[in-house]
Amino acid sequence: MQRDFWEERWQKGETGFHQDILNPYLAYFYGEKGPALAARQSLKVFVPLCGKSLDMLWLAQNGYQVLGIECSDIAIKDFFQEHKLEYRVEPGQPFIRYVSEEKTGQSRIEILHGDFFDLAPADLEGITDIYDRASMIALPETMRLDYFKKMLELQTEGMRTLLITLTYPQQEMDGPPFSVTENELNELYGEAFKIDKLLGKDILVDEPRFQQRGLSSLYETAYKLTRK
Ligand SMILES: C[S@@+](CC[C@H](N)C(=O)[O-])C[C@H]1O[C@@H](n2cnc3c(N)ncnc32)[C@H](O)[C@@H]1O
Repeated sequence: MQRDFWEERWQKGETGFHQDILNPYLAYFYGEKGPALAARQSLKVFVPLCGKSLDMLWLAQNGYQVLGIECSDIAIKDFFQEHKLEYRVEPGQPFIRYVSEEKTGQSRIEILHGDFFDLAPADLEGITDIYDRASMIALPETMRLDYFKKMLELQTEGMRTLLITLTYPQQEMDGPPFSVTENELNELYGEAFKIDKLLGKDILVDEPRFQQRGLSSLYETAYKLTRK
C-alpha cells in the first residue's frame, strides 16, 4: 500500500472508494450537529489522504477552511476541475500546493501534493479539526501504526478528529479497505486521545460490492478523537 500502489489506481481509474455523494456522518457532525455557521470561519479542517473527496467541497461551502493531502496529482487536478474551481499551483518541497482562494460561498481549499508521512507539525498550523474517511482504513496494519505515530506528532492538545472506520472479519477479504477494530483503536489512541464512539451500524446490506467480495458482516463506526 505504498504511494505507487495508489498512484497506479488513480492512473487506471480504479477508484471504487470515491463517493459521489456527501458522506452522511460529515453532514451530520459538521452540519446539523456542528458549530453555527459564523463560528466555522475560525475552523480549519485537515483531510488526510483526501483523494478527490466531495466532502472537501461541502466543508468549504459550509464555512470551514480545508487543507487536504494527497499523493496523486490526478486526484487533485480532478477535484478542482470537476468542481470548476479556479486554483493556482505553488511549487515546493516536499509538497506542491494547490490552492483555491476564498470567494463568495466558499472558504479556502488547499491540497498538498505529496506524502502524508512527510508532514511536519508546522504544515498543520491553524488546523482545529481532522476528517478521516477512508484514510486510516486505507492502510494495512503495519502502516496504521506509522499513521498513528504521525498523527500523534502532528496534533496539539484539543484537536478533534471525526474518524470513520469499517470493521469486518479481516480473513474474509484482502484490503483496502482494511478492518479496524475498536480494540485496535483503543490500543493505539487510548492513551493520548479521548475516544468517543458516536454512531455505528451494520452496512453490509447496502454494500453489494463487499457482499460479492465474500464478507459476512461489515460494520461502520464514527468516532470523535480528541488529542489530550
Ligand atoms: C481509500 S482512498 C480515500 C480517499 C478519500 N479520503 C475519500 O474519502 O474518498 C485513499 C487515498 O489516499 C491516497 N494516499 C495513499 N497513501 C498516501 C500517502 N502516503 N500520502 C498521501 N496520500 C496517500 C490515495 O491516493 C487515495 O486517494
